[in-house]
This record gives sequence, C-alpha cells and structure tokens, in this order.
Amino acid sequence: MTKQTYLTGITTTGTPHLGNYVGAIRPAIASSKVAENDGYFFLADYHALINSHDPASVRQSRLEIAATWIAMGLDTDKSTFYRQSDIPEIPELTWMLTCMTAKGLMNRAHAYKGVMQENIDAGSSDPDKGISMGLFNYPILMSADILMFKATKVPVGKDQVQHLEMCRDIAQRFNHHYGDLLVIPEVVVDENMSLITGLDGRKMSKSYNNTIPLFGTSKQLRKMIMKIKTNSLEPGEPKDPEGNTVFDIYSAFASEEQKAILREDYAAGIGWGDAKQKLFELLDEQLSEPREKYNALMAKPDEVESVLQAGAAKARVHSKKLIRELREAVGLSNL
Ligand code: TRP
Repeated sequence: MTKQTYLTGITTTGTPHLGNYVGAIRPAIASSKVAENDGYFFLADYHALINSHDPASVRQSRLEIAATWIAMGLDTDKSTFYRQSDIPEIPELTWMLTCMTAKGLMNRAHAYKGVMQENIDAGSSDPDKGISMGLFNYPILMSADILMFKATKVPVGKDQVQHLEMCRDIAQRFNHHYGDLLVIPEVVVDENMSLITGLDGRKMSKSYNNTIPLFGTSKQLRKMIMKIKTNSLEPGEPKDPEGNTVFDIYSAFASEEQKAILREDYAAGIGWGDAKQKLFELLDEQLSEPREKYNALMAKPDEVESVLQAGAAKARVHSKKLIRELREAVGLSNL
C-alpha cells in the first residue's frame, strides 16, 4: 500500500454534534490509526470568520471542537492536529493561489451561489447582499489548507466535493505555470456523511438548527432524542426503518447485530418512545467515557492549548519548507 496523507478540517462554529462526529471526526480518527498513513486534522478557524463575527463564540467553538477530537481518541502524537490560524503560511499560500485562480471559476462556487439564489428568491434588489469576499474566496482558502500539507486524500461531505474539484483545478494551473510543486489531492466522499439525519429528518447540520450535541449531559441527550420527529403510528403498528431518523442515527452507532434486532423490533411494532429509549441507551453508553474526558479538557483550556501549539510546531516544519519553495518558484525569494 502506498502511503497516503489524509487531511480534513472542521469549521469552528457551533457546538460539535453527532453529525460532525459520524461524518468527519470518526472516519478521520479511523484513518489515522492505519500505521502507514499520515493524518493532518485541523480546526478551520479562519473559515469560521466567514460565518461568525462574534469573537466569543468563535473562541468557544474552537475549544469545544479541539476537546472533542482529543476526547474521541485522536492520537495527537501520530497525527498532526493543529489550528489553521496558527499556520501563517496558509494565508500566504492562499494569496499565491488567489493570483492563479480565474474569477470565473469562483463564480461557479455553490457556497456563494446558494446565498445569491436566496437573495434572488427573496426578491432582494442586491443579489450580493450579505456575501463577503471571504465567502466568495472560501474555496481558495480551503485549497491552501489542502495543498500546504500535500494531502492525497481529503475526506469530506458531499457538499464539499465541488471545493475539491476547484482545489485540483487551481493546483494544476499553478503547477502548469510554475512547475510541479503542488500535490493534486483526491476527494474521499464518506457515504455516512450524508446519511445522518437531524431532529427534523433533514441532514443534521448547524445551519438547519436540528443537531444533537455530542457532549450534553445524559439527561440533555435523552431530552434531545425524545424530540426527534416521528410519524403518528401507534405502538403495535409495524414501522418502516428506511428513512426513519431514529433508526438512521441508531445505525450510525450500532453493530450489524444491534441493527438487525432493532429492525425486528420495528416490524413487531415497537412504540416510538421505546425506540428512542433504545437509541438513547446506545449513545449514552458509547459517549459516557469520552464525555468525561471532554468535560475534563473543557475545564483545562491550557492543556488543549498546549496540544494545539505542539501540533502547530509539527505542522510548520512542513509549511515553512513548502512556502520557501513556492516563494522561490514565484519570484519572491531573497535577492
Ligand atoms: N469547508 C469544510 C467544511 O465546512 C471545512 C474545511 C476547511 C476543510 N478547509 C478544509 C475540509 C480542507 C477539508 C479540507 O466542512
């Protein structure tokens, strides 16, 4: 097997939820355990500034998301775990890439076009209302994240696939002009990413406000699970597990055997309250140990900080080297 470099980031807005874990954190931790792989995992806190202009919540979310990765068992010695904003070479590379990116390519980015469409649908006279240059340039910053560490595999959700295509385009153009300095990454789409549904049956996402936080107390977790929207079938009536949110979330955490049992319970007409209770018990069992670690870390931000500082030092060995080569290539080296 050839060595692969896995890289992925999570934007630090909001509180980590089950979808973040199943979609991004869990597969990343699994990939990092494969001995011959390299793993780069980071807090995309520059990306956070695009969506959030509230310093206190950006700060809080960074701590929560960092503590989550560590509590869930990321081996921070084997992989490189860092904060985007601790790597000054990333904005520097972003600029070099910006100058090699056609504006027309960015015009096609879904993230920004989505907001533009909302403005048009809402009858606004300004289609660019609320769109910052940060949002417009989002895919270039993301490309710099990826290219900086020569990632070969980038696990992301379906909504990020276009950004990966843009990253490849930009890197190819750079290489074509300046020589083969950047590694062209491949996207890895984890099917689970789109599978986990939220309280209302849509994809679990902070933008839909339908998430279940990973590390609430046991009591809060149960309360959230009881809020999951179900249909009006009564206990005793057979129920279809397909497309059912309770079953869906259960599946993301259960063994094949446990899934088969719940499937039978559905056929036998389990009541929604009982199905939710089963989901709660499964999650609570799996989350109770990491929850304790998480709470301990949240109480000691200094410890989290030092893990991140160590990660940044490790990461910068690579980023400084690449930036030196790139500066040379584009004509910005010392005279
Ligand atoms: N855009 C990603 C998201 O919101 C986060 C992200 C930023 C990222 N930079 C990245 C993911 C680089 C993978 C690689 O989900």
